[in-house]
Amino acid sequence: MTAEPAAAVTAQLCPGGPMLLRGASEVIDEDGVAHPVGRPTVAVCLCGRSQRKPWCDSTHKLTQKVGPDSRRKR
Ligand code: FES
Repeated sequence: MTAEPAAAVTAQLCPGGPMLLRGASEVIDEDGVAHPVGRPTVAVCLCGRSQRKPWCDSTHKLTQKVGPDSRRKR
C-alpha cells in the first residue's frame, strides 16, 4: 500500500492585502477552529480587520494609507 502524494498548496502574499491560498483543503484559525475551503483559491485576511475572518472581505482596501509611497509598482 502506497500513500497518495499530497496535493501542492501554494501561498502568495499580496502587498497590503491578503494571502492567496491555492490547493488548501482547510484553514485553521488562531483559536484552532478549522474552516473548510470550498474553492481552488481563497484569500485569507492578514490585516485583522475582516468581518469574515479568516477570509478577506476587502476591508484592507479601506484602511490603506493614501499617498505617494502607497502606489502600486508596475
Ligand atoms: S486582508 Fe483583506 S480584509 Fe484583511
